[in-house]
Amino acid sequence: MGLRVALLGAGIIGDYHLRAIASMPHMEAVAIADVNVARGDECAQRFGLKAYTDYRLMMEEMRPDIAIIALPHFLHLEAAIYCADRGCHLLLEKPMAISVQQCDAINEAVERNHVVMLVGQTQQYISHNLKGKALVQSGSLGKLVMIHDVRHGAYFHADRPAWFLDKAKSGGGIVFNLGAHAIDKIQWLTDSRITRVRASLSYHAELYPDMEGSAVMMLETSEGVTCTVNLSGYEGADREETELIFTHGMIKIINHDSVWISEDGKYRQVPIEHAVNPFVLQLTDLAACIQEGRQPYSSGEYGRSIVRVIEAVYRSAERDEEVRLEP
Ligand SMILES: NC(=O)c1ccc[n+]([C@@H]2O[C@H](COP(=O)([O-])OP(=O)(O)OC[C@H]3O[C@@H](n4cnc5c(N)ncnc54)[C@H](O)[C@@H]3O)[C@@H](O)[C@H]2O)c1
Repeated sequence: MGLRVALLGAGIIGDYHLRAIASMPHMEAVAIADVNVARGDECAQRFGLKAYTDYRLMMEEMRPDIAIIALPHFLHLEAAIYCADRGCHLLLEKPMAISVQQCDAINEAVERNHVVMLVGQTQQYISHNLKGKALVQSGSLGKLVMIHDVRHGAYFHADRPAWFLDKAKSGGGIVFNLGAHAIDKIQWLTDSRITRVRASLSYHAELYPDMEGSAVMMLETSEGVTCTVNLSGYEGADREETELIFTHGMIKIINHDSVWISEDGKYRQVPIEHAVNPFVLQLTDLAACIQEGRQPYSSGEYGRSIVRVIEAVYRSAERDEEVRLEP
């Protein structure tokens, strides 16, 4: 029998999840809940679902196997605990919550109710990143010594949902949102945890003076790999690249586009054989974990580790000091 899925938050990313489910034979979306009636109705009609404005009522009436929580960050805590307490498995969007303390409360609820929770760190399911990780794991380029991750993209644009630019609802600016992806990518590619953080932030968005618009982070993993992350949300040209430097070569991942490996002093493109929709892969992973009764790689503990680094980034920038984290 297929797994029945309910979506909390019919926004931008909710749509990606519903389209993925529509292509999956062993999963069925049954309902959505959104406080925005027009948006909820439009979405429900397009996917043939029942629409609710109150996710609690939806959970009581529909009793889904999986709840996908695609709500503003500040609502992740209450929604995750509510759904876990009803014995429902979770796909909780990234970042897991807006503080480590909130992550702990969610993890307690997951444990108490014996449900599976996957934190939606989608970087782990992007075909280009998977190819990059396979190259890292092959060991063919020697020892990994450095990673440089760069993300540029106008962050303060008019189309961005307003809650992202309200610190109480989002947790912060570009670090909380895009930084969560960069930190995940580094930890997951290296299969380790970030244990040292030094960061510098800027606050130059005219209308949002309390939202950081750029970040330079110097991070070190538990395996001693030094990483720089450069995030910029000011206007310019979009760019998203991760470069890995080994003792005998280099890899470059240009997200959603290509993977490159060094050869004879130049970069050569590596073909991607079977690119798969990352949202399908993510849900497939969750379904396998449910069937096998185990937590995924991107578990609550993993999601918490990312929020912990984000908190350390703010602390480092505020106090102008390095922050060390226990592995
Ligand atoms: N994995 C990824 O690559 C990725 C990409 C984008 C966003 N996200 C994450 O997904 C989450 C949602 O982001 P988004 O861009 O889809 O935002 P969004 O604003 O487009 O969607 C959120 C939706 O939640 C609804 N909502 C708000 N309060 C509600 C409530 N109490 N009950 C029911 N619905 C409510 C809003 O009306 C809105 O439709 C965030 O955690 C975000 O960081 C992840």
